[in-house]
Formats: sequence, structure tokens, C-alpha cells
Amino acid sequence: MVSKRANGLAASETLKITALAKEMKRAGKSVISLSAGEPDFKTPDYICDAAVKAIRDGHHGYTMNTGTPELREAIAAKLKRDNELVYTPEQIIVSNGAKQSVGFTLLATVDKGDEVIIPAPYWVSYPEMVKLAEGTPVVVKTAFEHQYKLTPEQLEAAITPKTKVLILCSPSNPTGSCYSKEELKALAAVLLKHPQIYVISDEIYEYIVFDDKHVSIGQAEPAIIPQLLLINGFSKGFAMTGWRLGYLAGPLDVVKAVSKIQSQETSAPSTISQMAGEVAYKESLDAVWAMRDSFKERRDFVVAALNEIPGVNCFNPGGAFYVFPEISTYLGSKTPSGQVIATSTDLVMYLLENYGIATVPGDAFGEPGGIRLSYAIAMNDLKDAVVRLREGLLSLQN
Ligand SMILES: Cc1ncc(COP(=O)(O)O)c(C=O)c1O
Repeated sequence: MVSKRANGLAASETLKITALAKEMKRAGKSVISLSAGEPDFKTPDYICDAAVKAIRDGHHGYTMNTGTPELREAIAAKLKRDNELVYTPEQIIVSNGAKQSVGFTLLATVDKGDEVIIPAPYWVSYPEMVKLAEGTPVVVKTAFEHQYKLTPEQLEAAITPKTKVLILCSPSNPTGSCYSKEELKALAAVLLKHPQIYVISDEIYEYIVFDDKHVSIGQAEPAIIPQLLLINGFSKGFAMTGWRLGYLAGPLDVVKAVSKIQSQETSAPSTISQMAGEVAYKESLDAVWAMRDSFKERRDFVVAALNEIPGVNCFNPGGAFYVFPEISTYLGSKTPSGQVIATSTDLVMYLLENYGIATVPGDAFGEPGGIRLSYAIAMNDLKDAVVRLREGLLSLQN
């Protein structure tokens, strides 16, 4: 007899596919998993050393609810160094991962019936988090031709008197797209006409950007800063997904509201992770750039290889470690045994069960014409995966 709130939530499609792939592997089948949302690296040694030291030095207790002053100072210094943004440590609250930062920020800003604009394809958790906050997700479909990026015209058209928040994610999960400075400036120009609307800018993939430098919307248009709720964390850039460390930087009243929610729900994240995070931001980023370069090599390979498969279209994404190829020509096709592939979920299940590759259907991200592949795996596996994908797709008949 679970609550309506829990019943109304979708289970994470990514986790479902990953679980099935693991089950198949346990049963002895050869499965290449392109479904995980995490780097295939270990956390750099100097960060691990800082955590070990924190344990040995006896930092075993709670910290302040908003995070240690030292970490929040290090985050403020990082925002200045990397993003030209000026925040005081009081405007920053550290949480158990950027996921919690997004969730608590929505709880702190959205009232029942408030609308939250979410460009699709979107990260799976955004609409569900909005529903948990009793808000209404307003999903805006974006175009493949624009690398699935929201245009100012689309934003303007989606705004109503009930709009409270826009969620932007750059670099994007699931598409890897990055908004340019000009694109962000144009979106900010629309938001500036509606000062009651916040923009949650999820920049968790900031350090995995290949061709240009990452730009935050606050950097592209400083006038937006009073409306900006900037979210970032350590999971992706530093390969620290298991350490659970993220943060919000924003106007003091929102940070205080998030702090109240956090104080009742979880308190601050692990003290040890916080002390490690401080070192991550203070030391050189050389290890981060080495991981980025390795992702770039794999992106270059996978985009070229995917575009050689008939009926697959994949643009060159500027960041993260995902590609989101367009595969809609295969929808409506038939498998050799006559089963119809009606949806991207059918396609993903067919590829997993018959060709041993785990991907994630675009359905899960609100864009049925694509599938998401994470290329955070060894190059040899990636090469093998593309061969299997090609064979799987070419086995289908229109
Ligand atoms: C877009 C996006 N935001 C936030 C997160 C959550 O990151 P964290 O591990 O810091 O909670 C993820 C993780 O997959 C993500 O893809």
C-alpha cells in the first residue's frame, strides 16, 4: 500500500536495462554495456589520498549542514576561476550529489501546479523530480537539426504565467550537446523578460568538453545571475560518482530554503568526501584533462563509426560521454522472426537480447527517435559494440 506519490513515479529506465544486462552477464552471455552513466576511470590518486588522510586524521563527525566552510570556499574559488562567476560561500550548499541538489532545489522553488520547462531529450530524473515537487513538467521537444538544443523561440512559446523554472543541461545527458555562449545569451534574453522564472543550469559534465570551452549561462549573460540556480558536482569530471558530492550556487534565499530541506532530509554529505572534494578543486586539473582527452578519442571513433551504419545519423556532440544517434528509420521494421520493432524500447531490447549490447531507448529521455550510447568503456569493447549494433540493425527488415 504505497503512496500515490511513489506509485506515480517512473522507475529509472537506465537502471532497468543495466540490471537486465548484468543478469545476462551472470548467465554467461557476452554483453557489452553502453548504458552506464559514469566514467570508466578510478578517482585520481591525490583525491583518494586526501580522503584517506581525512579518515586517519579523525574527521569522522558531521559537518555544517551546508557543507564545510573550506569546501564552500574552494567551490567559490573554482566558480571564479573556471566560470568567471562571483559567489560567496554562503550562496553555496553542498549535497549528496548533483542529483540531490537538483531535487532539493526543485522542492525549494516549485509549488503545486507550477510549471517547469524541460527541453527533450532530457535527463530521466528531471520530470520525475518535478512531479515529486508537485509541479507540472512542460516538456518541449527539440530538433535533431539543432543538436536537440532549445531555441529562444521555443522557450518563449512554452512560458506561461505558471512557469517557475527552466531546466538546462549543458553538456547534455543524453545528447552530449553543448550550448554556445551566443545560444545561452539568447535564452537568457528571454528569461530576463520574465524575472519570476529561475533557470536551473545543470553543469555536471562541465569538465568533459572537447572542442570549445564550457560556458555557463551566468557567464554568457551576467544579468541572469539573480535567476540562476547553478548545479555542479564532482561525479563526472573527477570520476567520483560513488563519493556523492554535488552543490548548488544561487541566490541566498533559495540556498537557505534548500538548506532547510536538507537539514530535515539528509544533512550534509560525507565529511570524507567533502575533504576530498576540496583537494579536487584546489589541485591542478591535469588528471581531469587526461580523462577528457581519452573520452574525446572515443567520441571521435564512435561518431564516425555510427554514421557509417545505414539509417543512423549522429552529430558530433561537444561534451559528456554519450552519443544519441537518430535511428527512427528502424522503427516499424521487423525482426527475422517477424516481431515488429515499434518503439526505441523494442529496438533496445532486441539489440540486448540478440546482439548483447545494452543501450538506453530514447523513449526514456522523451525522444523516441533515438537511442543513447555511453562510450565510457574500453576502446576495444566500443569497437566490438559498433560491429554488433550494425549487425543488429541490418538484420531488421522494413
Ligand atoms: C545531467 C545529470 N545531472 C546530474 C547527475 C547526477 O550526478 P551526481 O552523481 O552528482 O548525483 C547526472 C548523473 O547521471 C546527470 O547525468
